Amino acid sequence: MLEKVAVVGAGNVGATAAQRLAEKNLARTVVMIDVVEGVPQGKALDQWQSGPIEGFDGRIVGSNGYDPAAGADVVVVTAGIARKPGMSRDDLTKTNAGIVRSVSEQIARVAPDAIVVVVSNPLDVMCYVAMKTTGFPRERVLGMAGVLDTARYRMFLAEAMDLSAQDIQAMVLGGHGDTMVPLVSYTTVSGIPVGQLLEQSRLDAIVERTRNGGAEIVGYLKTGSAYYAPSAAAVEMVEAIALDRKRLLPCSAWLQGEFGLRDVFCGVPCKLGRRGLESIVDIRLTEQERTDLHKSAEAVRAMQAMVGG
Ligand code: NAI
Ligand code: 2OP
Repeated sequence: MLEKVAVVGAGNVGATAAQRLAEKNLARTVVMIDVVEGVPQGKALDQWQSGPIEGFDGRIVGSNGYDPAAGADVVVVTAGIARKPGMSRDDLTKTNAGIVRSVSEQIARVAPDAIVVVVSNPLDVMCYVAMKTTGFPRERVLGMAGVLDTARYRMFLAEAMDLSAQDIQAMVLGGHGDTMVPLVSYTTVSGIPVGQLLEQSRLDAIVERTRNGGAEIVGYLKTGSAYYAPSAAAVEMVEAIALDRKRLLPCSAWLQGEFGLRDVFCGVPCKLGRRGLESIVDIRLTEQERTDLHKSAEAVRAMQAMVGG
């Protein structure tokens, strides 16, 4: 169990993540921070009171300032705004970069040894902003997207084959967006290549649905985006770190030559343990997957240039 995990942003993803962290007994104290007065405090108090029912003893604390997060072992960053009507993708990127920059300055001040798990969108670019602003090494700045995209991919496959998603091993790499790269060549069902169990046209449709997984949910919710699966995915990463599990999970990481890519955040297979990113596993890809991964990374690189260092 960690001493302290902070969650910045007490909105849908942040508050749900805080509740999951407490329920899994991953931290003695979960601190939730938001700019809206009263909201983190009220949500934290409500969540804390579920302890006797859900079986946890840890504290959940809400705050508008960062002092309660002092010395946090892990910080999950979910602060940001959603795209509003008339707002371009670039405007959103600049606005959220400003938010993540100010949040990162505070993290570096109060929790200089923390491992940062970024969730805010556009994900890979926000990881870049967090790493540049905190000055933390790449081992301590990771982005959550691949775990979520892979969970969606596995559920769609499970439904198509009428099999348990638990037995489906898969990874979705690349940037978090419509250029993401589900690795069909590495998708297996208890070791059986998925191509032996599903015809190509159905696999293609599932890959496409995965790429649009976030948009499909926004289409229903209209004014918000997904948060149950995203918070579960972020907490899976925190759990791997807290319990030093050495999980191999697809996360956005700062590449330094892996997969032939350098100085860009991109989703790749990452070994996560108590030190954060412990290594990146540079696997062999098909020609098409490698081309797609590079295309996806270059899209992130262009946005990195836009937000500057
Ligand atoms: P939300 O709107 O429910 O919550 C965002 C919260 O951030 C709000 O409570 C807001 O007051 C707070 N906030 C804004 N500026 C802040 C600041 N400077 N400091 C502290 N808090 C601040 O949004 P939701 O649904 O929780 O999503 C959060 C972010 O996560 C969005 O950027 C969203 O696009 C992203 N996201 C990313 C996913 C991924 O796979 N990486 C999946 C789902 C969401
Ligand atoms: C998602 O994939 C909005 O990035 C978010 O649901």
